[in-house]
Amino acid sequence: MVSTSTQIAGFHFENCLMNAAGIYCMTKEELMEIENSQAGSFITKTGTLEARSGNPEPRYSATSLGSINSMGLPNLGFHYYLDFVRELEKEESSKNHFLSVVGLSPDETHLILKEIQASDYQGLVELNLSCPNVPGKPQIAYDFEMTENILSDIFSYYKKPLGIKLPPYFDIVHFDQAASIFNKFPLSFVNCINSIGNGLVIDDEQVVIKPKQGFGGIGGDYIKPTALANVHAFYQRLNPSIQIIGTGGVKSGRDAFEHILCGASMVQIGTALQEEGPAIFSRILKELEEIMLEKGYHSLEDFRGKLHYLS
Ligand code: DHB
Repeated sequence: MVSTSTQIAGFHFENCLMNAAGIYCMTKEELMEIENSQAGSFITKTGTLEARSGNPEPRYSATSLGSINSMGLPNLGFHYYLDFVRELEKEESSKNHFLSVVGLSPDETHLILKEIQASDYQGLVELNLSCPNVPGKPQIAYDFEMTENILSDIFSYYKKPLGIKLPPYFDIVHFDQAASIFNKFPLSFVNCINSIGNGLVIDDEQVVIKPKQGFGGIGGDYIKPTALANVHAFYQRLNPSIQIIGTGGVKSGRDAFEHILCGASMVQIGTALQEEGPAIFSRILKELEEIMLEKGYHSLEDFRGKLHYLS
């Protein structure tokens, strides 16, 4: 028997696969497609204080190796998603879920989190510190001082389970600096990684998306090595109480296996879910179970974080 069940901050999941924020999660209808698939959970589109229509289209484009997007945080407002997960989780048999949020300023982020703190929602929240696509707004998580200040303010009033979505880091010193900040706070998890920000894809002589003269976040095959490195770097550095969610370049059971081997407790699927649809979860789950069976692993704990090094 093989089990891919997992837990984050004590919340149980029947299996470790789910959507990445931004994919199949804008409306209740899309979220219900993930809910009714083989996914172990879903996360909502990142909700802001007010609804947003986002950047002009086309704002997502796929290539044979992945995707580029500059959506610009289109969403129905965080209340819509908060109300929806509260509604769903009233059912005893409901899966557990993740609510993704961020404000367009620190003040807005605090307004949102204070409202969630005051609500009866007891579930998981992912604070998105890594949106690369809103013109004029830098990614919070690339500014370590701002990140520490925001987290410090948040944890003065926020007492529910909270994790953060991170952009990729590319320097060992940055892994060290980021981890030493995150270790100061009672975070439930970090999610590595968001898209590699501000890449450029060209078709013939022209960019493929309209916003920002074609610049956008890169996902898919392009980013798996960067994602695995970030998952493992934080697995090596963070307090064991801070779990890791692995996101980036997952389109097969083998990719999910690698994320777990690097230390992930849950694995999210972005570009490949967008391209293949929610049936992808049963395929990847089956492929992951086959790999575990072949290797004689019964549970994710048998190999999580146990990456082999060359001696
Ligand atoms: C968007 C993109 C992101 O990578 C993110 O984390 C949040 C929002 C967007 O463009 O909508």
